[in-house]
Amino acid sequence: MGRVSKDEKYGLSWFETREDALLTMRTKAGASMTLIYPIASNAAHPPRLSPDYRSTVKRSPSKPLIIMRHTLSELTGPVYGHETVRENDHDLTIQHKGEPLGERIIVHGHVLDEDGRGVPNALVELWQANACGRYIHAVDQHPAPLDPNFTGAGRAQADASGYYKFVTIKPGAYPWGNHHNAWRPAHIHFSVFGYSFVSRLVTQMYFPGDPLFPFDPIFNSVTDEKARNRMISSFDLENTKPDWALCYRFNIVLRGRNATPMENK
Ligand SMILES: [Fe+2]
Repeated sequence: MGRVSKDEKYGLSWFETREDALLTMRTKAGASMTLIYPIASNAAHPPRLSPDYRSTVKRSPSKPLIIMRHTLSELTGPVYGHETVRENDHDLTIQHKGEPLGERIIVHGHVLDEDGRGVPNALVELWQANACGRYIHAVDQHPAPLDPNFTGAGRAQADASGYYKFVTIKPGAYPWGNHHNAWRPAHIHFSVFGYSFVSRLVTQMYFPGDPLFPFDPIFNSVTDEKARNRMISSFDLENTKPDWALCYRFNIVLRGRNATPMENK
């Protein structure tokens, strides 16, 4: 039996049955929110040190991590950014005077918990290269053109069922200097804020059938094949818009045995 704690000021009580593994909170009104981080989630995530992915050699910690327990305010505090999401922030093709060049696509899906339940109101942000594989960033100087009509960043708030949707341009592959002739498979970076400020998760979405998969140390830093495949979107013919845009589905599973591999775990 675990420990029971109360916070009279905020009308909250919570109990723990295992260190950092289960935290259930109940409010005075009787609503409950379970903050579980299933240990099974960890199997999906890449190790901090993946020598073939060269920059991890310098940035991965050389000493054991010191685990900091989250406080109640961190777990229940407001998530930054939701109030600033505007109606068209999810459409990266209408941010400028003209339309961006490239293949217009729809990317949509659900943010889900370990039981397949939608995570309501999750803040989903994405950033990506343009159709030529170029980012608007001072560090990206590879000889591919910038697109004056494409910034490459957007955000959306999931609805009550955890559903989100973006309209964007299919990004191009780009070289990245990790090793001779290194090219990143086309990908879109995703960030998801779940219930609280400390629940930010970052991952990358790939496109099905990319010939660069076997050669990409970042993709392959996720060692479990099934987990790797959960980073690949699926082509969604049903929701492809005739004469307008192909559609890809990308469900993001925040935790559990089917968790989407995350970069920041
Ligand atoms: Fe990238």
